[in-house]
Amino acid sequence: MMENLAGDRPTAAPNPDSGSTAAIPPPPPPTVQIRNLNYFFGQGELQKQVLYNINLDLLPGQIVIMTGPSGSGKTTLLTLIGALRTVQDGSLRVLGRELVGMGRGQLVEVRRNIGFIFQAHNLFDSLTASQNVEMAVELMPNWRTKREQSVAMLTQLGLGERVDYKPRALSGGQKQRVAIARALVNQPTLILADEPTAALDKKSGREVVELMQRLAKEQNCTILMVTHDNRILDIADRIVSLVDGRLESDEDLTHFMESHDPRTLDRRMFMTL
Ligand SMILES: Nc1ncnc2c1ncn2[C@@H]1O[C@H](COP(=O)(O)OP(=O)(O)OP(=O)(O)O)[C@@H](O)[C@H]1O
Ligand SMILES: [Mg+2]
Repeated sequence: MMENLAGDRPTAAPNPDSGSTAAIPPPPPPTVQIRNLNYFFGQGELQKQVLYNINLDLLPGQIVIMTGPSGSGKTTLLTLIGALRTVQDGSLRVLGRELVGMGRGQLVEVRRNIGFIFQAHNLFDSLTASQNVEMAVELMPNWRTKREQSVAMLTQLGLGERVDYKPRALSGGQKQRVAIARALVNQPTLILADEPTAALDKKSGREVVELMQRLAKEQNCTILMVTHDNRILDIADRIVSLVDGRLESDEDLTHFMESHDPRTLDRRMFMTL
């Protein structure tokens, strides 16, 4: 490092690579950077370790699918990344900021840049679809802008005709799309989704992930999606597998398909079920 800075150092033959190396821009910093992360539930003798030495980088614009058997720690890892749990051991940087040692206010600040989509939609039953999305719109000067933003996002998700319906008058797939609209409306840099298609039939599940994929690419955000649904694996840039609290594999889709027999894919994913 220091040697490169020493301008007066006599140079020997010019390095043929040096010009092109200098021209390559540095890679963008990862949206999420996890180092040596361990996590435990419980105290004392009842303490149980659920995550073991996790190391993982998620880059801007990447769609990463996380699979693994039930109980392997996927939701726990997602909630740690989402600043919804306190990191106990290791390092976890989200959007360039170290979560370890952060106070409550700073964690809330980090969460503002994250869109969460969980399996239980967590919609407010007394609010309409649009009002549910409006709840999430930050820093808009007035309600009219909030309403416009919300309706625009719901329309993109195919719910233009349903903006004033309450959740009980919407199907499971439509509710899930309201939850997705709410997660995306603030243009988050990171989306964390926990089995977003679990309650959907094949067709709506496919539609929902394709919409997420399109919106993610348009907004260049990072998506980390937990799923058991092997029909949507192809939207992923990368697939990581968590088994017994450990990251077992990290592959691109082609490798994943080559190294897993499609006939046993389902069984592997539901290993402990
Ligand atoms: N609040 C909690 N207190 C104690 N143990 C917990 C708690 N939440 C989860 N666990 C345990 O931690 C482990 C990991 O749970 P987690 O919910 O992260 O798994 P998962 O991979 O998301 O499973 P699934 O695919 O079934 O959703 C499990 O053994 C679970 O029983
Ligand atoms: Mg889970």
